[in-house]
Amino acid sequence: MAFPPSFLEELAVRNPIEEVVGQYVNLRRSGSNLFGLCPFHGEKTASFSVNPEKGIYYCFGCHKGGSVINFQMEIEGLSYPDAVRALAKRVGMEVPEDEQYQSRYRQQERLWALSKEAARFFNSQLYGPAGAEGLAYAQKRGMPKSTLTRFGIGFAPNSWSALCDAMLEKGYTEEELKQSGLASVSQKTGKIYDRFRNRLMFPIIDVRGNVIGFGGRVMDDSTPKYLNSPETIIFNKRKNLFALNLAKKSKLGYMILVEGYMDAVALHQYGFDCAVASLGTSLTEEHAALLSRYTEQVMLIYDGDEAGQNATKRAIPMLEKAGLQVKVLQMRDAKDPDEFLKKFGADRFRLLLEESSNRVEYQLRAIQKKYDLREDDQRIRFIDEAAEFISTLGNAVQREIYGSRVAEAAGITPESMQIEVKKAFKRRMAREKKKQERIDLSPASNLQPKDRHIRYDNIKSAMAEESLIAILLREPALLDCCGALSAQSFSSPMLGRVFEQLMANHAQGIPVSLTGLTDFSPEEMSHIALLLQRHDGPVSEQALSDCIRTISTEHQSQSAKSPQNNDDLLSLQKQLLARKGLKT
Ligand code: CTP
Ligand code: MN
Repeated sequence: MAFPPSFLEELAVRNPIEEVVGQYVNLRRSGSNLFGLCPFHGEKTASFSVNPEKGIYYCFGCHKGGSVINFQMEIEGLSYPDAVRALAKRVGMEVPEDEQYQSRYRQQERLWALSKEAARFFNSQLYGPAGAEGLAYAQKRGMPKSTLTRFGIGFAPNSWSALCDAMLEKGYTEEELKQSGLASVSQKTGKIYDRFRNRLMFPIIDVRGNVIGFGGRVMDDSTPKYLNSPETIIFNKRKNLFALNLAKKSKLGYMILVEGYMDAVALHQYGFDCAVASLGTSLTEEHAALLSRYTEQVMLIYDGDEAGQNATKRAIPMLEKAGLQVKVLQMRDAKDPDEFLKKFGADRFRLLLEESSNRVEYQLRAIQKKYDLREDDQRIRFIDEAAEFISTLGNAVQREIYGSRVAEAAGITPESMQIEVKKAFKRRMAREKKKQERIDLSPASNLQPKDRHIRYDNIKSAMAEESLIAILLREPALLDCCGALSAQSFSSPMLGRVFEQLMANHAQGIPVSLTGLTDFSPEEMSHIALLLQRHDGPVSEQALSDCIRTISTEHQSQSAKSPQNNDDLLSLQKQLLARKGLKT
């Protein structure tokens, strides 16, 4: 019997891969990956990688890889269902072995699908006659269409039944509308009616891209200012953060935590795409743990009023306990970040950020705290680690200034410190170059899956197919843009099957992820993990449509050409080299 996808999803979320692997392998962080000695083959240098964000492991030595479930199977020699049971047991989850229990998961899946439909409905209302007032309000608050689209913001019409009617029409039941919190029940008549009316609607989306609830804002001074979804089987505000689905992809390297939906939205709009907001509750330990999966540094920006300051005091120890470095930005000249940005703009805000949080200084202090500088060997290790960190700074002046500061703390000359930094820089470049070469410069034959049953006939198309799959697994919402493709467009039947399953799950509102791929052999899973591991390209609609274009063109010209054309390989090689040239 198959396990329901949403159960597997929860299983994967509650068994973070770095934790499960960490029970068997000593892992050390290097960039976004963790590395360790491969438990599946003997080796002296670490070629076994784990990527927490992508939820995969992959060994560059023996080419084994996959999801947390595959790891459990491989390491304990278990069958697929037994590995699932072992992971469930590990975190005290009940395994849905029988029909009755499975139905809870099916129910969840229905509610996700319903919530997504509702979000689409609200969003479309903004541009119709019933939403004119909502759109005007959004504009008054300085949100352009791009922002409304990015956050899926919508409008609940001033009606008792507009949403319910539309959803019933789509085949959802009254019971489901109640369960989702989108409908309330009249005490008098027992009939259902729309919970959200005449409000600007902010969908709350979890890290997997599921719409799980809503916050609705009035457009005047009436109360409550925000009405939120009640707790449901898919919505728990203690465990979710607004905009984390977007912020988790930020390249800024830290997260900004704010109080309000509007603050998070404004920050994203002004380029600070790492902002998240708690959902009208004070920060919980679960929030802190969730954040710590995606970043190591948090910038707290709560409102300047007394309540905000008290919340800040409560939040700091909680975040630190989760292993996060915390910085606090004191709001000035405006009550919250939204107001500040609209009054003074992004540059002024950036100044505020920089001045209140010298990230470099902060990081160095954290490194220093780890060592007792009275001990020689610890001092040496401190210098090493600090040099490694300083070597990552892009600016020579910075490297010199902070180098001198470390030198002073460690009691060596600034010149020796500069030498250490240079050495660290060279070591790092060598490491990165090697890694890049392993990926980019590998001969086309290395791009072939290790397992010959799934070898690619058309490398050029297959690379685009791989990128496409990687993009979709990292951003499932983009599956909406793939209507033009079908499994038959793929030159690789295996990747075609992956695509097909992702599309099918997505269409049913089932979460899309690696663990949702249940019909693939270990060799196939290993290869899928590898393609995810080597894909670090942009995750955007543009990148996606480039892939689709290549796949379609190749598909059309395929019949005319003989497969495995040498010219293809050569041109691909050239492309890869060119890409490398661009990057460095
Ligand atoms: N909140 C809530 N219920 C309320 C008021 C507030 O759930 N009745 C939550 C919302 O998540 C809100 C956050 O608390 O975003 C912060 O409240 P506030 O600062 O008042 O809201 P802003 O997001 O700043 O909204 P606006 O700028 O539109 O006033
Ligand atoms: Mn505000």
